[in-house]
Amino acid sequence: MHEKTSMKILIVYGTTEGQTRKISHFMEAILKDRGHEVTVADASETPPPPTSYDAVIIGASIHIHKYQSAVVHYINRHTEALNKIPSAFFSVCLAVASDMEEEHREAGKITSDFLEHVGWKPLRVTQIAGALKYTQYDFFKRLVMRMIAKREGRTTDTSKDYEYTDWNAVRDFAAEFAVKIKTHPTATRAT
Ligand SMILES: Cc1cc2nc3c(=O)[nH]c(=O)nc-3n(C[C@H](O)[C@H](O)[C@H](O)COP(=O)(O)O)c2cc1C
Repeated sequence: MHEKTSMKILIVYGTTEGQTRKISHFMEAILKDRGHEVTVADASETPPPPTSYDAVIIGASIHIHKYQSAVVHYINRHTEALNKIPSAFFSVCLAVASDMEEEHREAGKITSDFLEHVGWKPLRVTQIAGALKYTQYDFFKRLVMRMIAKREGRTTDTSKDYEYTDWNAVRDFAAEFAVKIKTHPTATRAT
């Protein structure tokens, strides 16, 4: 069912193997279904500034403890604007799919250190499990990822890809954010 107020929402993502793009488009579908106007943009392809949107969601994935530099640049360029409107950050990685508590803590620290470093204060932050895309990696990446997977007790059959994303959690995150932005003081700007 559509909600009464339609918001203009921008989703900007950084991706290396495509999972964060897939998650972004899934969120787009959830938000559109609720009657919002949604634009999805790749951070590396000149995404629009946040200024003409009611809310912004930014997603990025972790590779060797870092997010995509295009996302870092986008946030650095628009920190002030981002801090003026309701915004959310979702971090995609494999550590949060691990049974090891320490891995979760490490992923959380990468995210909080990053947000502190760029000076952006999103209203909502979440961790989303990504994917192991063995078939898309080159020889070296496959070797490294297989080694890490082995250490963490994950599958080492490199003939297939494995998706750990909890789509219900992604749906809840997008839906809750949509509710949250309507109660934000800036929500009165929307028509
Ligand atoms: C070379 C490489 C390095 C990675 N480094 C990390 C890491 O440091 N921590 C982690 O939790 N996940 C790591 N991952 C897992 C990715 O975050 C995961 O595969 C994610 O789904 C990638 O999202 P993307 O397809 O949007 O780039 C790494 C993956 C690759 C291929």
